[in-house]
Amino acid sequence: MIEGPFLAIETSCDETAAAVIRDREILSSIVASQADIHTRYGGVVPEIAARHHLGTVNVVIAQALDEAGLKMSEMTAFAVTQRPGLIGALLIGVSTAKALAYVHRRPLYCVDHLLGHICASWLAPTLLETPFVSLIASGGHTRLDLVTDLATPTMLGSTIDDAAGEAIDKGARLLGLGYPGGPALEALAAMGDPKAHAFPIGLGGKRIRNFSFAGVKTSLLYVVRAEPDMSDQRRADIAASYQEAIVGPLAARVLDAAREHRVSAVSLGGGVAANGRLRELVTEGAARSGLRVAMPPRDLCTDNAAMIGAAAHFTPRIEWPDYLHTDAVPTAPPGGIAA
Ligand SMILES: Nc1ncnc2c1ncn2[C@@H]1O[C@H](COP(=O)(O)OP(=O)(O)OP(=O)(O)O)[C@@H](O)[C@H]1O
Ligand SMILES: [Mg+2]
Repeated sequence: MIEGPFLAIETSCDETAAAVIRDREILSSIVASQADIHTRYGGVVPEIAARHHLGTVNVVIAQALDEAGLKMSEMTAFAVTQRPGLIGALLIGVSTAKALAYVHRRPLYCVDHLLGHICASWLAPTLLETPFVSLIASGGHTRLDLVTDLATPTMLGSTIDDAAGEAIDKGARLLGLGYPGGPALEALAAMGDPKAHAFPIGLGGKRIRNFSFAGVKTSLLYVVRAEPDMSDQRRADIAASYQEAIVGPLAARVLDAAREHRVSAVSLGGGVAANGRLRELVTEGAARSGLRVAMPPRDLCTDNAAMIGAAAHFTPRIEWPDYLHTDAVPTAPPGGIAA
């Protein structure tokens, strides 16, 4: 356990975030999203993201301290997302955290972003204890892990092509919705019939732990091309059917993996875990199987720094000033998560 309150920073993609954490408690969590800036390009532009983090990071940190009612000198440690992500974006957070930790003579925790998504379930108010099966479904990743120890999750499966969030964003774009597409697609899908169109389910079949979303995405492209003058109702039906083809396998496979590995709980993490239909399917399926479900509040599913603070508890501590040579790393390590 990290003693006392500490500051966590997250800048791996297009959210600039800072949080003050004490044990499992979030004293403050500030997220400044750049989504409005990237929306005109239909996705995140790495160079613009990095420049924007540079202009925003200090303001976001000041706000996090202010909301926690604490001073920088009261932080007992610093934590930052080191990998994986956009290199320019990561560098802003890593350089900032290194500088703050060095100046205040504090230790630094260099955190893996995906461990952050898993550890969001460890924070109050969710408070999930191991062992459990974790599903991460985000903009860049989709994976299942068996978590017997939060420091070393074991990957059970992952996507063989697109991430679930990527398929959702591309699908939303094909349906004329903005970036990021998740919330807009969910809102449109709520007005449609999920059984209206039979999209292919990637890697269908039992006992499959991997995911595939490239086929369903291409299938949507063909539907949109074939029906350029879709009515509003048809568009909603297609959105609902498309969403179902993505979140259905996510829900089925995390529940199935929990049964196979004889654990009594599952957790959801990553931006797609904010999706109401996914949450509903997992809740219903878990109730039928007698499984507990840990679903962080929606704002802890999408990128935030509180989850990075949570993961810091399960990440090696680097003492002052040994971290000065450490750097941002864009890629994931073999196995997918750095301990
Ligand atoms: N309500 C929602 N329904 C479905 N998808 C959603 C919802 N809210 C957000 N998303 C999706 O979540 C994704 C963003 O998740 P997150 O912020 O965790 O991704 P990321 O940090 O960019 O990727 P990674 O964590 O893999 O590095 C986007 O693809 C977005 O469309
Ligand atoms: Mg993320």
